[in-house]
Amino acid sequence: GSFRSPYEALGGEDTLSKLVDAFYSRVGQHPDLSPIFPTDLTETARVQIQFLTQYLGGPTNYTDEHGHPMLRARHMPFEITPKRAQAWLACMKEAMEEIGLDGPLKDDFFHRLTLTAQHMINTPDEEP
Ligand code: HEM
Repeated sequence: GSFRSPYEALGGEDTLSKLVDAFYSRVGQHPDLSPIFPTDLTETARVQIQFLTQYLGGPTNYTDEHGHPMLRARHMPFEITPKRAQAWLACMKEAMEEIGLDGPLKDDFFHRLTLTAQHMINTPDEEP
């Protein structure tokens, strides 16, 4: 049969927009994350849907509008500590639970995100 991308298998645009909404409502409330994000997360969410669409093998909406992701470089203006990476992943895990994403596709997706989040770290945690 024809190749079905993880993007399609997970439910496409509908699933990603629900996921990203649930995710950024948590990010906006999170004490470690909210200080480095804009107050209005509308544009952030729009771009993240574009990125995740492409990341999961869907249409290349992100690159069409913004060029090569260069994700680590785009995160350099922000202090991404191990603690913030854990917080980002916790918000994502809870968002997946909230929208009822489950099973091996979700596990693979989350695993890839943990690797990408590790790769974004550019600053050590503060000493206690
Ligand atoms: C942008 C933080 C991990 C994808 C941003 C921005 C911040 C941020 C502060 C700028 C938001 C804005 O100005 O609108 C973090 C932190 C992370 C993390 C603390 C913890 C590790 C990730 C991961 C991914 C990702 C794992 C992808 C799977 C993006 C994308 C953008 C972005 C696509 C928009 C880039 C652009 O402007 O084109 N992130 N991020 N981030 N982040 Fe992250």
